[in-house]
Amino acid sequence: MAVINILILLLVASAVSVSAVSTDEDAFIGVNIGTDLSDIPSPTQVVALLKAQNLRHVRLYDADRAMLLALANTGIQVTVSVPNDQLLGIGQSNATAANWVARNVVAHVPATNITAIAVGSEVLTFLPNAGPVIVSALKFIHSALVAANLDNQIKVSTPHSSSIILDSFPPSQAFFNRSWDPVMVPLLKFLQSTGSYLMLNVYPYYDYMQSNGVIPLDYALFRPLPPNKEAVDANTLLHYTNVFDAVVDAAYFAMADLNFTNIPIVVMESGWPSKGDSSEPDATLENANTYNSNLIKHVLNNTGTPKHPGIAVSTYIYELYNEDTRPGSVSEKNWGLFDANGVPVYILHLTGAGTVLANDTTNQTFCVAKEGADRKMLQAALDWACGPGKVDCSVLLQGQPCYEPDNVIAHSTYAFNAYYQQMGKSSGTCDFKGVATITTTDPSHGSCIYPGSLGRNGTITNGTSLAPSSNSTTSGCSSQYFYGGGYVTSSVIIGFVLVAAVFL
Ligand SMILES: *[C@@H]1O[C@H](CO)[C@@H](O)[C@H](O)[C@H]1NC(C)=O
Ligand SMILES: *[C@@H]1O[C@H](CO)[C@@H](O)[C@H](O)[C@H]1NC(C)=O
Ligand SMILES: *[C@@H]1O[C@H](CO)[C@@H](O)[C@H](O)[C@H]1NC(C)=O
Ligand SMILES: *[C@@H]1O[C@H](CO)[C@@H](O)[C@H](O)[C@H]1NC(C)=O
Ligand SMILES: *[C@@H]1O[C@H](CO)[C@@H](O)[C@H](O)[C@H]1NC(C)=O
Ligand SMILES: *[C@@H]1O[C@H](CO)[C@@H](O)[C@H](O)[C@H]1NC(C)=O
Ligand SMILES: *[C@@H]1O[C@H](CO)[C@@H](O)[C@H](O)[C@H]1NC(C)=O
Ligand SMILES: *[C@@H]1O[C@H](CO)[C@@H](O)[C@H](O)[C@H]1NC(C)=O
Ligand SMILES: *[C@@H]1O[C@H](CO)[C@@H](O)[C@H](O)[C@H]1NC(C)=O
Ligand SMILES: *[C@@H]1O[C@H](CO)[C@@H](O)[C@H](O)[C@H]1NC(C)=O
Repeated sequence: MAVINILILLLVASAVSVSAVSTDEDAFIGVNIGTDLSDIPSPTQVVALLKAQNLRHVRLYDADRAMLLALANTGIQVTVSVPNDQLLGIGQSNATAANWVARNVVAHVPATNITAIAVGSEVLTFLPNAGPVIVSALKFIHSALVAANLDNQIKVSTPHSSSIILDSFPPSQAFFNRSWDPVMVPLLKFLQSTGSYLMLNVYPYYDYMQSNGVIPLDYALFRPLPPNKEAVDANTLLHYTNVFDAVVDAAYFAMADLNFTNIPIVVMESGWPSKGDSSEPDATLENANTYNSNLIKHVLNNTGTPKHPGIAVSTYIYELYNEDTRPGSVSEKNWGLFDANGVPVYILHLTGAGTVLANDTTNQTFCVAKEGADRKMLQAALDWACGPGKVDCSVLLQGQPCYEPDNVIAHSTYAFNAYYQQMGKSSGTCDFKGVATITTTDPSHGSCIYPGSLGRNGTITNGTSLAPSSNSTTSGCSSQYFYGGGYVTSSVIIGFVLVAAVFL
């Protein structure tokens, strides 16, 4: 009897699950691997980085054979792509599609766990002439998978730019650009009948940039907003606390507008550039870190969206590497989490968010000069650290990795942090008479790797690891680090040293 009840419950549960968007899996975070790098890492190096960062999901922009071989037997789940320049051929010929699948998919499974095929990339936006062949391309690819008995484990879809969704706020009024109904309706039918999902690229960065100030930066970055600034959809009364959720919900509503209510969404690209030229002042390390850290926490928490709370919206970060040879603006080259050597561009703040990309960031703290601190106080504290404090300050000398930027704030930050790390981060060792403070943001830059940083390949660097071997750390410091206007009498320095000795 009990068994039967359980069976009935299971049946009810599965019946419910077909009538609305649902997923029985937790949301995951993956990464996109673009390859426009001058110094491109080998497939084995890429896989080593993925493993070290606990990344279990990747999307390739092609179906590179060497990369697929390197991914074999790693358990990493792979989305391969049909590049836009192959789309026409595949959409026009069942045989071409079958060949593509044989060569790029069947040849690699099951050793390489290919779980999806992204057919084209933002075709309706970038290659509208190919719009009419998308659906036949999807169908031809799918029938080749059916013939190989792989259609259950490999989903077929096509990534869209969110710009095909019009009137996306309030989300409840969103709809797909109606010019594309002749493509979207059969496409959604295909996704529904094959149990696939809508692939969507979501870029709050561009929404923010193009909004002319209407979208607050905090709203794009998942930062808390005052309740009166939260966006409320007047039709549904749903509260939106970030742009990402609003765009995903707009896509759900746009599908519902065409009467499709049970197709899940996977975000194939989302991210934030860490660098831009003067026309992109919000492409900064800090904003990129904030966006990606908050996005990862949001996705992995299975928060879902206001319309579908708790429904997984798995997301691939754009992107793993900075692509220095990508054409276009400075920001185009700076969406990556890592440089070509696998050095993190910034250390994500992922405390408590699991292990993906969270390598050792949990307890990382650094000691830095306080913003706006008095320069004379900084200078005195710098002199103390490089002198009695026994910090090796030789990396701050001209020609050494931490010389630039040549100012008292940067140099005292280096020295304070070195002292703090050297003292085992024990309490009270990051004060320097009130001009120093603790942060979780790694102040390392370029080849100037700060003590305590994860540095190049995940090994914590020691205070002296970068310093050329030299014994002259306790002499000549004051004169080396004298800054114009920052003159401090030696009696003040001595007085400070005495005070510091008592209070540090
Ligand atoms: C491939 O990934 C799927 C999840 O989609 C998983 O169920 C399966 O066990 C994986 N296969 C291998 C060989 O790792
Ligand atoms: C396309 O090819 C597949 C095999 O790859 C075959 O099963 C299917 O019937 C073909 N479809 C058409 C329309 O020719
Ligand atoms: C809708 O799509 C058509 C065809 O690509 C395009 O010409 C038009 O500008 C789009 N409309 C909007 C409002 O984006
Ligand atoms: C959606 O369904 C409603 C009611 O069943 C119908 O009136 C409407 O025409 C349908 N819309 C589309 C685009 O099929
Ligand atoms: C995680 O999800 C719970 C509900 O499932 C929610 O209350 C909480 O605010 C979420 N945390 C974050 C960081 O999104
Ligand atoms: C971080 O990566 C190293 C290898 O690079 C690994 O040994 C270590 O266990 C990882 N730490 C965490 C918290 O995942
Ligand atoms: C991080 O700090 C917590 C306590 O603050 C401690 O329990 C944990 O072991 C630390 N983890 C590492 C990797 O040092
Ligand atoms: C770490 O990086 C340094 C320099 O980039 C390199 O010499 C060293 O071999 C690397 N160590 C490991 C374990 O990969
Ligand atoms: C780094 O410093 C710690 C303690 O200060 C020491 O135990 C360790 O051997 C040092 N490692 C290297 C590579 O110098
Ligand atoms: C550095 O100090 C050690 C003893 O602490 C000494 O043996 C060595 O000769 C010194 N090196 C230089 C370059 O002064």
